[in-house]
Amino acid sequence: MLHVENLKVTVEDRLVLDGVTLEVREGEVHVLLGPNGVGKTTLLMAIMGVPGYRIVSGRLFFNGEDITNLDMEERAKKGIGIAFQKMPPVRGISLRTMGEIILRTHGVDDLSLLENAAHRLDCFYLLSREVGVGFSGGEAKRAEIFQLLLQRPLFSMVDEPESGVDLDNIALVGKALKELFEREQVRTKRRSGLVITHTGYILDYLNADQGHVLMNGRIVCSGNPRDLFEDIRTKGYNECLRCER
Ligand SMILES: Nc1ncnc2c1ncn2[C@@H]1O[C@H](COP(=O)(O)OP(=O)(O)O)[C@@H](O)[C@H]1O
Ligand SMILES: [Mg+2]
Repeated sequence: MLHVENLKVTVEDRLVLDGVTLEVREGEVHVLLGPNGVGKTTLLMAIMGVPGYRIVSGRLFFNGEDITNLDMEERAKKGIGIAFQKMPPVRGISLRTMGEIILRTHGVDDLSLLENAAHRLDCFYLLSREVGVGFSGGEAKRAEIFQLLLQRPLFSMVDEPESGVDLDNIALVGKALKELFEREQVRTKRRSGLVITHTGYILDYLNADQGHVLMNGRIVCSGNPRDLFEDIRTKGYNECLRCER
């Protein structure tokens, strides 16, 4: 579904990704691991097409189509979606209005979906608030996943669903994501995704198919996500550079 080929990306003229190659097939969920500041978020932003993350070489393919030169909106229309690590605040628009806009953009008239998703993520009480304004870490994260649920992208990217979230809320977020990936097919395709995890907690909820370690601007290691995470927990990331998995 998503094929990333030798991607090099600069942020503020600095080369952050130096040849990332990655393939996520239809129906698969992959997790991305790596120390702080290696470019995990940059990879998601570059796949989404967020301005400021410049692809200087390499290609991106989505369902066989070259999307390297498409803008963010066009990529979103093809079915790529993202839940950001930090929710960007949108002043003057309530979370409910944002939810309605998302549903309408996707041709959904049934607004009960909005309230269901809000209940599921315990953000019903946030619907009347301005999007992301003054939200706590956990509230922002739940509201971000709430918006992703309404979009229901074919390919969902989630940046550190556990960050800033306490254990109870990790369960809420984890179950919502699990359901998102297991939901009915769209356009005869099964959903896929790429999830960044720092703590590994989310692995208890997601049926992740593969894990990848990003270091020095590249994927240095791929394999069973639980085994990878356990190795990193016990041996540290530097072992990944030596390991020939
Ligand atoms: N908007 C930005 N402006 C300047 N530098 C950035 C920006 N976004 C990311 N970077 C830099 O790019 C590198 C990778 O960051 P990031 O992708 O956020 O890493 P990770 O998500 O793995 O922690 C870091 O050195 C970071 O400082
Ligand atoms: Mg990050």
